[in-house]
Amino acid sequence: QLKKTDVVPLLMNYLLGEEQILVADPTAVAAKLRKMVVGGAGKTVVISDFDYTLSRFANEQGERLSTTHGVFDDNVMRLKPELGQKFVDLKNKYYPIEFSPNLTMEEKIPHMEKWWGTSHSLIVNEKFSKNTIEDFVRQSRIVFKDGAEDFIEALDAHNIPLVIFSAGIGNIIEYFLQQKLGAIPRNTHFISNMILFDEDDNACAFSEPLIHTFCKNSSVIQKETSFFHDIAGRVNVILLGDSMGDIHMDVGVERDGPTLKVGYYNGSLDDTAALQHYEEVYDIVLIHDPTLNVAQKIVDIIN
Ligand code: TMP
Repeated sequence: QLKKTDVVPLLMNYLLGEEQILVADPTAVAAKLRKMVVGGAGKTVVISDFDYTLSRFANEQGERLSTTHGVFDDNVMRLKPELGQKFVDLKNKYYPIEFSPNLTMEEKIPHMEKWWGTSHSLIVNEKFSKNTIEDFVRQSRIVFKDGAEDFIEALDAHNIPLVIFSAGIGNIIEYFLQQKLGAIPRNTHFISNMILFDEDDNACAFSEPLIHTFCKNSSVIQKETSFFHDIAGRVNVILLGDSMGDIHMDVGVERDGPTLKVGYYNGSLDDTAALQHYEEVYDIVLIHDPTLNVAQKIVDIIN
């Protein structure tokens, strides 16, 4: 007689057999997977970062692709080089701080607030219209990871909520999903920075509170209480992220079920300290993975 959980060792064999997949504690991962399989789709919620998690970090040639904010760097550079350069200068200044191994999170936070604040002011002062931004997205270098469309559609088909928790720009993710999938799947919920538009559809402000890389936790989900209450029965969480700031995105979930944390590592393989840190905070670490394969396999066995 086959048991539901018999699929878990098969998935574990796959995870442990791949050189690019690191699982520091296989026993703990197998235990989480068993709970998730027993609970099934009805007890599951997926909480995912967007930039460089659902979207690709680099193209086949190894060139860095765009984040949601990066949509402005590229397009504005083309139309208004002076303003475009300001976005690029900000990125060149602050991105190394975001990923610096020599600064604590507390030390990084004021810099992140400055980066987001300045970048958002530039967008609002320029009063970009909704149409212009939709056009920017169409011409952007945001690329879905391989299998991302199927993954999002599979979650929708199985009625598993997908929370996209992003310190990027939520509207840009919405336009991107609309353009790639034809519509935003019903199961998708956004926690992100939203550009607010005036009556003429020109950008006039950003939603509050500001969400930057290191406040993707209880400090920004107060206004999401009713959403998390609605999904209160979903005690098992699959969390997908790519940075240290993503590991507490499950704080809104009211429960004591497991969170399986899957982390994309986009950094250098020579940086063994960083890699080790990822292994400590993520259950499964995917090295330079341009696909959603592992997440899809997990969802497949849960159904
Ligand atoms: P997230 O992946 O945690 O949601 O964070 C969003 C990323 O966006 C983060 O790595 C920093 C990046 N970013 C830009 O590229 N340009 C910007 O102007 C800002 C404010 C952030």
